[in-house]
Amino acid sequence: MSIWSKHQIFEKNSFVLLIGILVAVSIGGLVEIAPLFYLKSTIEKTEGMRPYTPLELAGREIYIREGCYLCHSQMVRPMRDELERYGHYSLAAESMYDHPFQWGSKRTGPDLARVGGKYSDAWHVEHLIDPRSLVPASIMPGYPFLAENELEIRDIENMLKANMFVGVPYTDEQLASAKMDIRAQAMPDSDAAYEFVERWPTAIVRDYDGNPEKVTEMDAMVAYLQMLGTLVDFSIYDDKANLR
Ligand code: HEC
Repeated sequence: MSIWSKHQIFEKNSFVLLIGILVAVSIGGLVEIAPLFYLKSTIEKTEGMRPYTPLELAGREIYIREGCYLCHSQMVRPMRDELERYGHYSLAAESMYDHPFQWGSKRTGPDLARVGGKYSDAWHVEHLIDPRSLVPASIMPGYPFLAENELEIRDIENMLKANMFVGVPYTDEQLASAKMDIRAQAMPDSDAAYEFVERWPTAIVRDYDGNPEKVTEMDAMVAYLQMLGTLVDFSIYDDKANLR
């Protein structure tokens, strides 16, 4: 009996086969996972990345609450058609503060990883209220209530804390002023906005929903959409590599 006929033992006994599978898979798993513990970092440090401001984070929560991810991905893959349509492919670092990440695998609508700055705030407001008023053939549902619902700020400190717990480096000062900052970013004429800019120098203060009377869920959603994919300045890299 040659050594190769011994595989009969596996083929005739499902329990032995199961153990064999477990051993083979664990070896494969170890080979893949063990090196990660020895690398200093699996994510390259990338200039420009910062955690979400309280308003953007709240917008992100609403994005998840409304299930936008069911139709929209947030990851530009490194293939030519995607680069031409959406811009630079996504870097790991760009979702380093995403808990949970929104990469997704379903594109009923376009990828949103780089939608920030593509349209005006007013476009987004109009589009979210009634997508077909701007894109007649759109099958996206409208979310008109976002413009009416006052933004719930009660939970923002806990949201920041939960993110800090999983490693997002919010400072104690940012945490302490979260309740103020979440409104300040949508109220450009307020005193609070000046202080906000000190704490968040690269964030944009704007009346996102165009309604100065209250800070709405629409403010948060549009603030979030408008910063997506804008933090890393790719012109520095692309001029050299001539990727686009
Ligand atoms: C049923 C699927 C579906 C859902 C759910 C959905 N969308 Fe869309 N979305 C689309 C489709 C299809 C388009 C392309 C047509 C259009 O622009 O309306 C689109 C387009 C967009 C665009 C414009 C993208 C671009 O680059 O032109 C944005 C921004 C957007 N959606 C945001 C959202 C947000 C935010 C939510 C959640 C509140 C959401 N969508 C939920 C299907 C969906």
